[in-house]
Amino acid sequence: MSGTAGTWVPVAKASELASGAIKRVEISGQELAIFAVAGKCYALTDRCGHMSAPLSRGTIAATPAGIVVTCPLHGSRYDGTTGKNLSGPVKEAPPDLDQATDRLRRFLARTAELSAAIRTHDVPRFDVRTVGDDVQVLL
Ligand code: FES
Repeated sequence: MSGTAGTWVPVAKASELASGAIKRVEISGQELAIFAVAGKCYALTDRCGHMSAPLSRGTIAATPAGIVVTCPLHGSRYDGTTGKNLSGPVKEAPPDLDQATDRLRRFLARTAELSAAIRTHDVPRFDVRTVGDDVQVLL
């Protein structure tokens, strides 16, 4: 979260984020997803605003519209710089279910329908600074 008071806490090395990985860090009960794009580091809470899946297991992409973090569970997308929700969960069951039984297909379709009915919220972002190779987050 943005804030004016707090403590800068080291959470990662900039060099370890250069690969494009999302690092999960838990400090004082705060679960954070730390990542870097084009040499700049960012931090969001590590809980999706839909059903709390770990965003650190998702993906990041630099797009013409900005940095997009995608949840690994149902595909909700977030602005990586602000935590603003860009789109909600994917509404359909996966299309490649040729081998699945009818019962499994119905279950997945029902799960996708219910999942899509759950409201998706923006997620908190945290201020980040880099000091040398240390990535620090304001908590
Ligand atoms: S938990 Fe993230 S999109 Fe559902």
